[in-house]
Amino acid sequence: MSDGLEGVVAAQTVLSEVDGQAGRLIIRGHSLDELAGRTTFEQLVAVLFEGFYPDLPADLPAALGQARAEVFAEVAALDAGLVGRSPVEAVRALMARLADGDDMTTALRILAAPAVFTAAVVRAQAGEAPVAPDPSLGHAADALRMLRGTAPTQAEADALDTYLVTVSDHGLNASTFAARVVASTRAGLASAVLAGISALKGPLHGGAPGPVIDMLDGIGEPANARAWIEAALARGERLMGFGHRIYRVRDPRADALKQAVRWLDARQGRLEFAEAVEAAALAILRERKPDRPLDTNVEFYTALLLEALQFPPTAFTCVFAMGRVAGWLAHAREQLAGGRLIRPQSVYVGPAPRKAA
Ligand code: SDX
Repeated sequence: MSDGLEGVVAAQTVLSEVDGQAGRLIIRGHSLDELAGRTTFEQLVAVLFEGFYPDLPADLPAALGQARAEVFAEVAALDAGLVGRSPVEAVRALMARLADGDDMTTALRILAAPAVFTAAVVRAQAGEAPVAPDPSLGHAADALRMLRGTAPTQAEADALDTYLVTVSDHGLNASTFAARVVASTRAGLASAVLAGISALKGPLHGGAPGPVIDMLDGIGEPANARAWIEAALARGERLMGFGHRIYRVRDPRADALKQAVRWLDARQGRLEFAEAVEAAALAILRERKPDRPLDTNVEFYTALLLEALQFPPTAFTCVFAMGRVAGWLAHAREQLAGGRLIRPQSVYVGPAPRKAA
């Protein structure tokens, strides 16, 4: 049995390939650098969904805008109880209100929902009323507008588009595998995406970027980096934003996101500080784990980018779901198209039955 299913091939997919040795990500035949910073989230969705959603609307930006407007009605269910939970739990609860199904309308609403619900939850937690979607805007621009109540700059909308495209799909990661398992039982797209969000929430997976900000704030300035990092490791903690089950070299998404941070030029000082912390972390991890390559993963510069876009760190996982929901929906349909019920075996190591008296 492989611990954590490491090295086990559990599906064939045309959606994405993660080459951990070369540090390369391919999505439907396009390398990441052909997509990140060059395509909108809607254009990426059309590429990802090709062949799996034949009735995908030709004007996807308009259809997604309409879907945002439709799911906004669910925000009324955001009560004091939900506002008191973590943002990802509140967003998950609102997502659970969406009707299940396997049709295009259901898929569009699920695709649109994380952006609408994240903005509403963050504003409610700040004591502010939700901002209704503007269906005429692109998805990234409207996500930022619903968050802040004002239109973002083009550079900000482009930066969020780059993030959503970069994290949209990534092979059979834990949340995508969870989504495929649920899709394989024919439970429906909403159920599959709820499984994905629940897996993504964990700090070993999509819950990592928020704590990167805690690390940067804990370190405070470059001179403190080594002492802070060594103390954290001595406490048995993991450095969030580093290491990966597949990548044995630098995650290619790190530099795609770092580039997007550079577009938001108010961040130079913060970026240089983060680069100094990253260098210290990589040096220390190399010293302590010489036989285990631990490099920067997607989450380190995700944290800087989402901080620059004024998402609170507690909501970073929700923003991850805004992009990854496209991958979950594509994998769910791919699983339904050709896959069987996913049902591996287990080896029983418990006690033998007691002999009947
Ligand atoms: C994502 O799979 C995907 O594709 C995921 C993702 C996606 O797009 O869907 O890429 C998104 O989840 C990125 C990863 C975000 N998580 C973090 O940044 C959390 C910190 N990283 C780690 O916890 C860890 O690297 C994992 C969980 C990401 C991967 O862990 P593995 O493959 O299960 O490796 P492991 O836990 O067995 O660690 C091997 C060794 C251990 O040392 P020993 O106990 O054997 O002495 O390396 C050490 C670990 O302690 N180690 C780390 C470390 N990561 C691994 N030590 C300190 N800091 C770290 N970050």
